Amino acid sequence: MAKDTPQAGAALPPYFNIDPDAALADLADPADTAGFARIAQACTQGRTDLASRGLNDQGAKSLRMFSTWEITRYLIPVAQAHFRRVLKQTPDLPQGRSETEGGAKWFTLDEVLRLRAHFGAQGSKAKNYLPYRPDGLPAKLVAVANFKGGVGKTSTAAHLAMSAALDGYKVLVIDLDSQGSMTSIFGGRVEDEWQTAFPLIARHYGDHLRTENQARAARGEAPQPLDETLSAAMDLSADDLIQSTHWPNIDLIGAQLNLYWAEFQIPVWRMAARGWKLWDALTDRLEADGVLDRYDVVFIDTPPALGYLTINGLAAADILLVPLGASFLEFDSTGRFFDMLYSTFASIEEGENIAARALGQPETAFQWDAVRAVITRYDGAQQGELAALMQAYLGPTLSPHRQDFTALIGQAGEQVNGIYEADYRDFNRETYARGRETFDATYAAFKRLLVGVWRREEQDAARERML
Ligand SMILES: Nc1ncnc2c1ncn2[C@@H]1O[C@H](COP(=O)(O)OP(=O)(O)O)[C@@H](O)[C@H]1O
Ligand SMILES: [Mg+2]
Repeated sequence: MAKDTPQAGAALPPYFNIDPDAALADLADPADTAGFARIAQACTQGRTDLASRGLNDQGAKSLRMFSTWEITRYLIPVAQAHFRRVLKQTPDLPQGRSETEGGAKWFTLDEVLRLRAHFGAQGSKAKNYLPYRPDGLPAKLVAVANFKGGVGKTSTAAHLAMSAALDGYKVLVIDLDSQGSMTSIFGGRVEDEWQTAFPLIARHYGDHLRTENQARAARGEAPQPLDETLSAAMDLSADDLIQSTHWPNIDLIGAQLNLYWAEFQIPVWRMAARGWKLWDALTDRLEADGVLDRYDVVFIDTPPALGYLTINGLAAADILLVPLGASFLEFDSTGRFFDMLYSTFASIEEGENIAARALGQPETAFQWDAVRAVITRYDGAQQGELAALMQAYLGPTLSPHRQDFTALIGQAGEQVNGIYEADYRDFNRETYARGRETFDATYAAFKRLLVGVWRREEQDAARERML
C-alpha cells in the first residue's frame, strides 16, 4: 500500500471533502438583531416547559420523602429496630407513611427534623444528633467563588446547603449570580431586582447618604437627595427578600438577570460618595436585619467574575471555598483568581487606611476564618498526578478531600437537583451509595472547618469574658 493512500475501509476524518455547494444549501440567511429575540423567545418557551415539568400541581417544587433506612443510615444514626421501638412508644412523634401494607415507612423532612429534635433531647448524648452550634454566636457565612465558570461553584454550594439542612442546620442561601442557577435549584420566584440582594446594598448606600446628610446639615450644607430607587430600598429589609423553598429549613434570597444591574449601579454610587464602604453592604444589612441570629449557615453563590457583587459576597464571608477541577487550565486560572483577590482587597485596604491613619481611626484589614480550594469533578483514574501536584503546591489551602465526578448529578433528572433530592430507589443502591459518599465527604470536610471556626470563636469569647 502506498504511503499516501488512506487505509482500506477507514473513513476519512469528517472535515475532509466538504462540498461548498452542499454547505451553502445547509446555511440559513444571515442573522440580524431581531434573530436574537426569536432565539430568546424559543428558549423562554422551552425553559418554561422544562421548569413546569419539575413543578407539582401547586406550581411549586416539592421535596421527596425519606425512608426509615435512609434516616437511620444517614440522618439519625440509630439502629432501625431502636428507631421503630421509640416511634411505637411515643405515639406523638411522626409515624411515617407506607406505600404498601407493612411496607417501609416514609417521612417528610419536616418530620425528620422533629424526630431528630426528639432523639437529640432524649437519646444518648454521645451521638450528636443535633449539629454543633455555639450559643450566642452569629451564623457563619460561606461564599463559594472562582472567576472561572463551570468549576462547580453552584453544585458545591447547593449540595452543601442541602447536606447542612439534612444535618439539622437552618440554612439561608443567597444567590448573587444573575444567571440564577441556584435560584432555580431551590425553585425561587424572582420578578425583578427588588426580590434579590440588590435592595440590601441600595439600603446600605442610602443609610450612608443619610448619615452624610446629617453631617452636611450640621455644616449648613444642602443634603444630597435620595432618589426613587434609594427611597424605595430604605423601606425593605432582608425579611422582605427571603423566600421559603421546598426544603423546610432552607430559605433563599434569589437572583435573576436584573441583578446584573448592580454591577453598573454600585460604582456610580461609590463615585458619588467615596466614603461608602460598599464591600460591607451585605454583611452590615444581614447583621442589622437579624439574619445572622436566625440562621446557622448562610451560603453565598457568586457569579463567575470578580465584580462588585462577588466582592460584597467575599467580604461578607467567614469561610471562602474556591472550587476548581484538577486540570492545568483550572489550576492556572484559579491562581490568577487568588492574585486578583489579593490586589482587589489590598487596594481597598490601602485606600481606606490612608484616610484612617490620617484621622487616627482603626485600620481596615479583611479577615476570613478559613479559605479552602476544593477539587471538584475529580477523576482519580486520570487526574491523580495533577491533583497530587496541586496539593504539593497549595498545601493546606487545598482541601485534602476531592469531590469525585459523579454521573448522579447529571442523571438526577429535571425534577430534582443533585444527590440529596434524588430518590435512591431510582438508582442501583451501590451507585447511589458511592455518589452520595463523595458529597457526604465534601460536606464532612466543610463541616470540620465550620465547627472548628465556631469553636475558635467560642473559646475567644470565653477568654474575653474571663478578662
Ligand atoms: N461532582 C460533580 N460530578 C459531575 N458533574 C458535576 C460535579 N460538580 C458539578 N458538575 C457539573 O458541572 C457543571 C458545572 O457546575 P456548576 O456547579 O454549575 O459550576 P459553576 O457554578 O462554577 O459555573 C454542571 O453541569 C454540573 O452538573
Ligand atoms: Mg454557578
